[in-house]
Amino acid sequence: MYSGPNVGMSNLRIKYPIHTLDNQILIPAGGEVSAGKIDDLISTNRNTYDSIPLLSYKSVQKDIIKVIKSAPLYNVIFGDDKQLASLMNHLESVTLISPLLDILDYFKEHDFYTYRHHLSVFALSTLIATEMIDDYTDRLKDVESGPTHDFGKICIPLDILRKQTPLTEKEYNRLKDHPMAGYVLLSYYYKDTNKIAPIVARDHHERMDGSGYPSGINLDNRLAEITIVSDIYDALISQRPYRHISFDNRTACEEITKMAEENKLHWEVVQCMIALNRKERPHFAECSISNVKRGSPPPLNNYGITLKRDVK
Ligand SMILES: [Fe+2]
Ligand SMILES: [Fe+2]
Repeated sequence: MYSGPNVGMSNLRIKYPIHTLDNQILIPAGGEVSAGKIDDLISTNRNTYDSIPLLSYKSVQKDIIKVIKSAPLYNVIFGDDKQLASLMNHLESVTLISPLLDILDYFKEHDFYTYRHHLSVFALSTLIATEMIDDYTDRLKDVESGPTHDFGKICIPLDILRKQTPLTEKEYNRLKDHPMAGYVLLSYYYKDTNKIAPIVARDHHERMDGSGYPSGINLDNRLAEITIVSDIYDALISQRPYRHISFDNRTACEEITKMAEENKLHWEVVQCMIALNRKERPHFAECSISNVKRGSPPPLNNYGITLKRDVK
């Protein structure tokens, strides 16, 4: 079982348009995103797309290695060259259709952080999935997962994505449209709402206890849970526009442990992530995690801080 059922698709009205890279409006501002609406959209898509091996596309293979090798905090997780070679071997079966590669190019050109983030989250989540799901490597091609979880961010203005000071509430709410935008875009291009890529794009900000967004469902989907833990860990240990100093590894692990203790994140996935972070590499089921919190978040962290009013 690679994913839970496609539950939680509540109809949502969106304030801003969902559009493709070439500005084809899929859902207009104020439109409702519903299963019927997406099915209608899919039926209008008469294009056929080439499927291209991800690692052979431009500099992607080189970039994945560079991204995980240049982040000092990934030294342990991706430090074993044999394991890294085996991961790259598995990734050779991953293909992506051409419009999705164009989106990857868009981020590489205009928002390098988001490009780097897609590649590292994809590498990390694939590694965790191969540890946790028995025949995952054999099924990688069928799963059709790729570095796509934040693709809905093409609908968010770049000045919001790259903003270095706290977002206004309006900007933050706009940013929160990206999971649904990603779901619509990926469903449209794959002509299928049930593939793992659109579901992960839609649900990667949901939480197990129902405290996430956009729908506030009680998440129960292993691949989405794996992407979420990878997404949060990568965001914590990276420099972001809104936080120039990244979390240290201990504090980042404590943050995700705390979220697992609060039943927001899947405990076993967090256990696996932390096991990969230990030099001795225990099996995730035997990896004990301390509940003592000694780390301290970095200063000048603007994450989650919003200004009440727009400042002109
Ligand atoms: Fe996201
Ligand atoms: Fe993300």
